[in-house]
Amino acid sequence: MQIIAHRGASGEYPENTLLAIEQAITQGADAIEIDVFAVQGELIVIHDHHLARTTNGTGSIYQYSIEQLMQLDAGRGERIPTLRQVLQLLQNTRLWLNIELKGENTVAPLLALLDKAKQELQFDSQRLLISSFNHHLLAALKLAQPELKLGALTASLPLDYAAFAQQLQAHSVNCDVSFINQAFVDDAKARGLKVYVYTVDQADDLSRLQQYGVDGIFSNYPARSRTLLSTD
Ligand code: G3P
Ligand code: CA
Repeated sequence: MQIIAHRGASGEYPENTLLAIEQAITQGADAIEIDVFAVQGELIVIHDHHLARTTNGTGSIYQYSIEQLMQLDAGRGERIPTLRQVLQLLQNTRLWLNIELKGENTVAPLLALLDKAKQELQFDSQRLLISSFNHHLLAALKLAQPELKLGALTASLPLDYAAFAQQLQAHSVNCDVSFINQAFVDDAKARGLKVYVYTVDQADDLSRLQQYGVDGIFSNYPARSRTLLSTD
């Protein structure tokens, strides 16, 4: 079962920062999950479009220029990273990256960046999983770049969900831990879909999901999850 560091090692370090990602690498995560919005065509790594929860800024990211956003403190003196910086940080590691698209206008900047990343960073797009709760964005990406791996995110468990994800030609369904059950995992896997579950920080959930045979979990504490898995 893969351990995907949720917003980096965000239980101990400021979420969605390079520091949290570096720490997740050190803690032995298999992958990193980050959230991205597009501002002026640049993809930035932040969970909310409101700045107040995770930075010393106020208002919405859309009220500011990229230069202004880069001045903000995202915790412990960290800056809001760009997606490009995250790709650079991960390029010489073995980790894969889950990019969750949060804003409406993210598809074109992502495609442009991936094109650049391929040439300049030699970052293989097969190390990426692009997910979103907005399945229209995923469908648009699939059309533009069919080889991209997609993760269809759901906050609940509609009965036909796995069928829908399969129709989207998604690589995975990414489900909330509160809704997951054995029947869903079996059905999704029979359809050739990977199952990734968020956000899992309780030991009993971890062992339950391991029994279900899920492919990975999003954890805020990758080191602790690694220890729990190895002592199970
Ligand atoms: O991708 C899993 C999880 O991150 C989705 O919810 O709100 O934490 O972005 P959220
Ligand atoms: Ca997320």
